[in-house]
Amino acid sequence: MIELENIRKSYGSGENRSQALRGVSCEICGGEFTVVLGASGSGKSTLLNIASGLERPDSGCVRYDGLDIACLSDTDMTAFRRKNVGFVFQQYYLLPNMTVDRNVRMGAELAGKSDYRLIIDAVGLGGKLNKYPGQLSGGEQQRVSIARALAKMPSVLFLDEPTGALDEETGRQVLDYVSGIQREWKFTMVMVTHNVNIAEMADTIVLMNSGEIIERRKNERRKSAFEIGW
Ligand SMILES: Nc1ncnc2c1ncn2[C@@H]1O[C@H](COP(=O)(O)OP(=O)(O)O)[C@@H](O)[C@H]1O
Ligand SMILES: [Mg+2]
Repeated sequence: MIELENIRKSYGSGENRSQALRGVSCEICGGEFTVVLGASGSGKSTLLNIASGLERPDSGCVRYDGLDIACLSDTDMTAFRRKNVGFVFQQYYLLPNMTVDRNVRMGAELAGKSDYRLIIDAVGLGGKLNKYPGQLSGGEQQRVSIARALAKMPSVLFLDEPTGALDEETGRQVLDYVSGIQREWKFTMVMVTHNVNIAEMADTIVLMNSGEIIERRKNERRKSAFEIGW
């Protein structure tokens, strides 16, 4: 379980100061799919970055099974992330001169894992091992970046608007893969989106507005990527 307790974060100073998070507290349950939903600028990415240890809060705690990662040294924080956390962003950040196989293998090797081929199969790219990112569609590239993030078998997968650059059909497909893999392997998954329909795929929905969590609710039934609106 991840516990966020009274997280505050501001950017800039003086007149340019903006409060991205205004004292946010939240629990993220282990093994669940949580969606963080909110309008642009509501603080979703900041929350994700702090929850995952990419950024530090100005104040507050971020506990992983009781361990407060906000207090770790930079070195320990990096080691923590490398071992425990996977990331997927709107941009794919693949290495263009490496094949699908090598891109994903790199993710596995970062965490000392070697068994990564099954993950490429799980995102439906087993037949494209030797393709380069430039030879793939946007949806396929995003699936490679998901496989790379999962290749180290992280305990938590964080995704920030993973379908933001994709058309509807491709976006649904990517969500279908990632939701299915999460359901099967039961790791903790936290996805940020501004699309209210995508929230219906989650176990838990966290609603943000102006740097605050205004609602956290359980979703009775996870919808599939093909059942939701868009
Ligand atoms: N690195 C940054 N520097 C300055 N302001 C930032 C930075 N990151 C976020 N902000 C500001 O914090 C607020 C929340 O941003 P963000 O967490 O990116 O929201 P969201 O992901 O919901 O769109 C916004 O007002 C944004 O302009
Ligand atoms: Mg954002």
